[in-house]
Amino acid sequence: MQNLLATEQQTFSDNALFLDAREEHIPRGVVTAHPVVIAKGKGAEVWDVEGNRYLDFVGGIGVLNVGHSHPAVIAAVTAQLHRVSHACFQVAAYPGYIELAKRLNHLVGAGEVFKSVFFTSGAEAVENAVKIARAYTNRPGVIAFDGAFHGRTLLGCTLTGMSQPYKQNFGPFPSDIFHVPFPNPLYGISEQDCLNALDTLFAVQILPERVAAIIIEPVQGDGGFLPAPPAFMQALRAITERHGIVLICDEVQTGFGRTGKMFGFQHTGIMPDLVTVAKSLGGGLPISGVVGKAAIMDAPLPGGLGGTYGGNALACAAALAVLELMEQGNLLARANQLGERLHARLRQLADKYACIGEVRGIGFMQAVEIMDFDTGKPDAALTQKILDCACQEGLLLIKCGLHRNTVRFLAPLVTNDSQLEEALHIFDIAMARATGRLG
Ligand SMILES: Cc1ncc(COP(=O)(O)O)c(C=O)c1O
Repeated sequence: MQNLLATEQQTFSDNALFLDAREEHIPRGVVTAHPVVIAKGKGAEVWDVEGNRYLDFVGGIGVLNVGHSHPAVIAAVTAQLHRVSHACFQVAAYPGYIELAKRLNHLVGAGEVFKSVFFTSGAEAVENAVKIARAYTNRPGVIAFDGAFHGRTLLGCTLTGMSQPYKQNFGPFPSDIFHVPFPNPLYGISEQDCLNALDTLFAVQILPERVAAIIIEPVQGDGGFLPAPPAFMQALRAITERHGIVLICDEVQTGFGRTGKMFGFQHTGIMPDLVTVAKSLGGGLPISGVVGKAAIMDAPLPGGLGGTYGGNALACAAALAVLELMEQGNLLARANQLGERLHARLRQLADKYACIGEVRGIGFMQAVEIMDFDTGKPDAALTQKILDCACQEGLLLIKCGLHRNTVRFLAPLVTNDSQLEEALHIFDIAMARATGRLG
């Protein structure tokens, strides 16, 4: 049997060789957006096994806010690897886990007493936030939003507010999970519509006194880069306080500078009870966590939380390096600068291409929604064409949105000016090709 890794090490191989093997050995359920096999990455760029360079404006889906292979992350992980790679926190504590908890409690709690617990994936953080909220309130109900994405575990996909492909054929689902609409002015859904739906839910499905938690992304990620309006977040905070419901902000995609502040909720004037973190926290290493008010976090009995790899020592070392970069550097200012420039340029493209229905986002979390010019309806096929053309020209992008017709930009915050210009130039070409303006 041919050893593909040996091929890769000897010479640059071709993508097709790996992709054929991928077809043969990996199930179709896990998709790969682009026919590209990555060999290495640096900052905002990646190279495939044929040596082709791409601007990576996906960043492992919002994982690489500090960029691929940041030297500080490499140094921290290498040093930790020489000390101890894994100890399992449930067996024996280690400094990195404790220090990371302390740092995050300070960052999120901003003066309030907070505690943190670590896991491996975003979905695991979400699952555990729900467990903690249920243990604290002794109530079953959890309310999420249409268009939300909270992961692919069974509870994660139950909380997710999109049927295809996340929920289809995976039921029956855990009970006592409810959904209400998320504000989306482009589709005529106002904040008041959503609050009315919540009232109706309380009247017809579950009393607020039986609800443990409301979980919300401050900016819906996979659901289409839709920011939750501050007044809406404040209304939810008031409702949850009135009824003793735990308010969970899922910051898995919005966290660590993506929106121009450390966390998305910081744009909205509220303080959540629990915050889920993952993705960019680890700078490429798998780590997630729940950060929350100490009284709530302490509700589960000893042994109720954890996991073999949760808060793995290498991942904690990487996360501490990422926090150091975020706090010492100018990454938040840079996120705002890049975001403003990207937003302005995408708006210019919206004047040029009538299929761009909306440009939206906060900080360096920007997206364009693609509509059919004649019908004014979401155009998923054109969106896919744009992404394919961009990839062929050397720019990696992915889509999002309930109708899969939104192109999202999740480039590292270390993207430099010329890389941003180049990406915008390629995006313009891709739009022209996909819409038939260029052959
Ligand atoms: C807001 C949000 N929550 C949860 C998740 C799930 O994270 P993971 O894929 O690491 O399980 C994601 C992943 O995209 C996400 O964007």
